[in-house]
Amino acid sequence: MEIQIRRQLPKHLKPRPADDAALGFGDIYTDHMFKLDYYDGAWRTPRIEPYGPLQLDPSAMVLHYSQTVFEGLKCYRHPDGRLALFRPRDNFRRFTSSAERMAIPLFDEELLLRGLKELLKIDGSWVPSRTESTLYIRPTIIATEPHLGVRPAREYLLFIIMGPVGPYYPEGFAPVKIYVEPHYTRATKGGLGAVKAGANYGGSLLATELAARKGYTQLLWLDAVSHRFVEEVGSMNMFFIVDGTLVTAPLSGTILPGITRASVMTVAGDLGITCEERGITMEELMETQKNGRLTECFGSGTAAVISPVGHLSYQDETFIIGSGGIGPITQKLYDELVGIQFGTLPDRRGWVEFVE
Ligand code: COI
Repeated sequence: MEIQIRRQLPKHLKPRPADDAALGFGDIYTDHMFKLDYYDGAWRTPRIEPYGPLQLDPSAMVLHYSQTVFEGLKCYRHPDGRLALFRPRDNFRRFTSSAERMAIPLFDEELLLRGLKELLKIDGSWVPSRTESTLYIRPTIIATEPHLGVRPAREYLLFIIMGPVGPYYPEGFAPVKIYVEPHYTRATKGGLGAVKAGANYGGSLLATELAARKGYTQLLWLDAVSHRFVEEVGSMNMFFIVDGTLVTAPLSGTILPGITRASVMTVAGDLGITCEERGITMEELMETQKNGRLTECFGSGTAAVISPVGHLSYQDETFIIGSGGIGPITQKLYDELVGIQFGTLPDRRGWVEFVE
């Protein structure tokens, strides 16, 4: 399908952020967006248009039944100036599985990647050139059909927006304080936990807000049945270093299959670090923390890449992980991943895809 392009008039182009070093997360957007409509049983009219508000009927189904999914990936500026995406095909594959789970009609992943690259060619000058800053890309699908019966919509809008971002957490790469959530849960088996449905994130807000009021940056979610097994941290996958081995929860249906998670495991393996995907309970974590075997802990995700955890608070006790600072394995994995993403280290695994 041919992608139609309608450019923003030069006099309407937005002012660029004055300082890449001062960028936060998720407040600034580029001049254009990609759009694709679904109606009469097919996805139609791929196009790039000026970024702008959407017009939605108040009865649009997404507003009532949350039939929406999204993705998150980044574009990096390499030292030679080229623009690079990191494993974008994995994001579009996961976008498909999220859509499938939310009864959204499937789309052509190749067309979306092509649309994204065209969009990046137009708005590429928005990609920051400073190492901690990137262009965050947010593909999203919403059910637009005006209808209030509970059933899958028959009309959708798929769009891709992008914006320059700095660190996800104000702490940056500094260790964060985590509250182990004793009551609320993020996901149940058979539910939405393994896909990027907006509803997962909406459902996490109250508990996260209550923890924030107690001074914690994020929550550690436990499994919904026994409340013993560690699942995710905030909106990230969780890793521990126990006896020098990297441990993370298995993809058992309640965990998001993070692309950063998969990359961390591959990079760790290449560095000679043993990696185990297995259930890990809070009892085991407390025990290994007390006898000095739990040395490091971090979350992984596209937005924050790797976020070291300094403190875990569980049942009125606070545990300091390792020295409470950034552990050596966490640092090594971060340097390796960020090096590949920004093109300062070689990409031996074919993860980087250039916009050209
Ligand atoms: C990520 O870590 O990439 C996320 O999923 C966070 C995002 C929802 C802002």
